[in-house]
Amino acid sequence: MLRSTLLFLSQQPRLRRWTETSAAASILTKRFVAGRTLEDALDVTRRLNAERILVTLDHLGENVTSIAEALASKQAYVEALRRIAQEKLEACISIKLTQFGLNLSEQLCLDNSMEIIKIAQELDGFVEVDMESHEYTDRTLRVVEELHNCLWQGGRAPLAQEPCSMTNGNPVNRVLLESRARVRVAIQAYLRRSADDIESLCRLGVPVRLCKGAYREPPAVAFPTKAQVNESYKRLGEALFERGVYPALATHDPKMIDHSLAFAAGRGIGKDSFEFQMLYGIRRDLQRQLVADGHRLRLYVPYGDAWYPYLMRRLAERPANLLFLAKNLFRR
Ligand code: FDA
Repeated sequence: MLRSTLLFLSQQPRLRRWTETSAAASILTKRFVAGRTLEDALDVTRRLNAERILVTLDHLGENVTSIAEALASKQAYVEALRRIAQEKLEACISIKLTQFGLNLSEQLCLDNSMEIIKIAQELDGFVEVDMESHEYTDRTLRVVEELHNCLWQGGRAPLAQEPCSMTNGNPVNRVLLESRARVRVAIQAYLRRSADDIESLCRLGVPVRLCKGAYREPPAVAFPTKAQVNESYKRLGEALFERGVYPALATHDPKMIDHSLAFAAGRGIGKDSFEFQMLYGIRRDLQRQLVADGHRLRLYVPYGDAWYPYLMRRLAERPANLLFLAKNLFRR
C-alpha cells in the first residue's frame, strides 16, 4: 500500500516541482544522489574507482516533454562520455529512453540514442539503457535492437549464443569494449514477459542488466508477490549465466547474490565473467564485502536536478528510508 502510494506520488508533476526546488532538497538527496553537476558525479566516480568499484553514470531525467529537453539530455551525456574518456575512468553511462524523447517520437529517440552510441564507440565507452514502466518495454527493446544491429552492420556479434563460461581473458573489456557490444539493456524480473525477452537478447548477443523492477505495475503484466519476483530473478539470472553475454546482476538482495554466486561457482564461471551492480548509497556494507571478495561491482551513480522520481522509487523500495529522511530533516 505504502509502496503504491509512493510510486503514485513519484508521477505527480506539481509535487515534483515543489520538492525539487525546496530548501530541504540537498538533505533529501545527499544519500542517493552524487550531486547536481557532472563535476560532483566525477568526484564520486574517482573515489569509487580508487576503491576498485566501477560506475555507471545516470544524468537524472525522464519523460521529457519537448525536443529541446531531449537534446539537452543527450548533450549532458555526450559531455559525460567525453570526461570519462579524458580521465580514463572506469565508468559508463545509463540512459532512459524517455529522456531521449521516446514519448515524443520513437524515431527522434532512436536518432538521439544512435548519436550517443556512436560517440561511445569513438571514445571506447559503452552505454546502458535503463528499463522504465511496461508501456515502454517493447519500444525500448526495439530501439536497443536497432542500436545493436547498427553497430553490427555486416557482422555478427561474436559471443551471441556462446555461454559466458566460455569467455577468456578480461570480459568487461573484451566483451563490452573490444567486441563493440556497446549497449546493455536492463530487464526487470517482475515482468511476466522477461524470460522471452532474455532469450531474444541472448540470441542477439545483447548484454543484460538484470534487476527486480521498480515501477507500479498491474498483476496482468508483473508478478504480484515478492516470492514470485525472487524466483523469476533466480531463473533469469541462470539463463544469463548459461546463454548471455557478461551478465550484470543488479540487486542488493543477499539471497539473489548468494544464488548467483553458487550458480556461477557450480558452472565454473570465473569472477571476471559477470558483474554485480548496486545503487549509490545503498547497502554499502554489502558493496565493500563483494569487492573484498574479488567480485566486480558497478555502482549506479545518479546526478542532476531532476532527482524527484528517482528518490521516490528508492523510498518505495524501502519505506524505512522515510524514517532516515525524517531523522535528517529534524537534525538540521
Ligand atoms: P529488494 O527490494 O528485495 O531489496 C533487498 C534489500 O536491499 C533490502 O532488504 C534492503 O536491505 C536493500 N534495499 C533495496 N532497495 C533499497 C533502498 N531503496 N534503500 C535502502 N535499502 C534498499 N529498476 C528498473 O525498473 N529499471 C532499471 O533500469 C533499473 N536499474 C537498476 C540499476 C541498478 C544498478 C540497480 C541496483 C537497480 C536498478 N533498478 C532498476 C531498481 C531495481 O529494479 C529494484 O527496484 C531495486 O534494486 C531494489 O531491489 P533489490 O534487488 O535490491 O531487492
